[in-house]
Amino acid sequence: MSDITLDPIGVFDSGVGGLSVLRAMRKQMPNESIIYFGDQVHVPYGPRSMEEIQKFSEGITRFLLERNAKLIVVACNTASAAALKYLRGRFPDIPFVGMEPAVKPAAESTKTGKVGVLATPATFQGALYASVVERFGAGVELFQHTCPGLVNQIENGELDSQATRTILENALRPMLEKNIDTVVLGCTHYPFVIPLIQKIVGENVRVIDPAPAVARQVNRLLEANGKQAQSPVGDQIRGEATMRFFTSGDVAAMKSLLPVLLGVDGNVESAMWKNYSVF
Ligand code: DGL
Repeated sequence: MSDITLDPIGVFDSGVGGLSVLRAMRKQMPNESIIYFGDQVHVPYGPRSMEEIQKFSEGITRFLLERNAKLIVVACNTASAAALKYLRGRFPDIPFVGMEPAVKPAAESTKTGKVGVLATPATFQGALYASVVERFGAGVELFQHTCPGLVNQIENGELDSQATRTILENALRPMLEKNIDTVVLGCTHYPFVIPLIQKIVGENVRVIDPAPAVARQVNRLLEANGKQAQSPVGDQIRGEATMRFFTSGDVAAMKSLLPVLLGVDGNVESAMWKNYSVF
């Protein structure tokens, strides 16, 4: 009989951004197998409509469930803003973990009371962001920026180029002039440019990568559902935790980014869309 605890966790994003969440999950849960889906043929999601993002998210969720995903991580703020509620309604028996901009820890730790938030247009427009601001943003002044073009720069592996720096400077300089002391990364692509962000804002500004907290939430939810991968018991040997990567875009492009973003090599498999289903 198959053992559900050995089934993989499904993780998806519009592209390679969700790898920042996968990285934190691997660190905290090395026993867990993971299937990753990057919808690179459709990246970026940020400028797309809520309805379209919901359809993509549903198609990817079905794809991951067909491969026995025991829990799904929507490792994309934009897809979480547009589709997390929708997915929970469509798949009521599946545990989902999504992303929300980390306004809460920022509001708790800011000294100046001024916080910058970097995210996509769809994330800022969604009800999820409005609710986070309403719940945790009282007494804090938030400065938002959509960093146009930054997702594509990261998809191209340009983590430290002049063009990437210019996008970030345009976003961050006006916030620094307003005396922010905290930057919230509300897009899972952005943790890959933290070294560059930190160079621009200086060491005294705290940059919040939400991935470790999300990985902890995944772990808690697996435990609560009795789905955590078990360590080998007695002489019962289980296989190594595996990682599978799928892209709807260019296989070679994702493969070449894995060592840059994750520090490991990996095999990348191709997945094709047809009528909002993935095969
Ligand atoms: N990683 C996605 C997010 O967290 C990228 C956004 C996009 O595809 O525009 O929002």
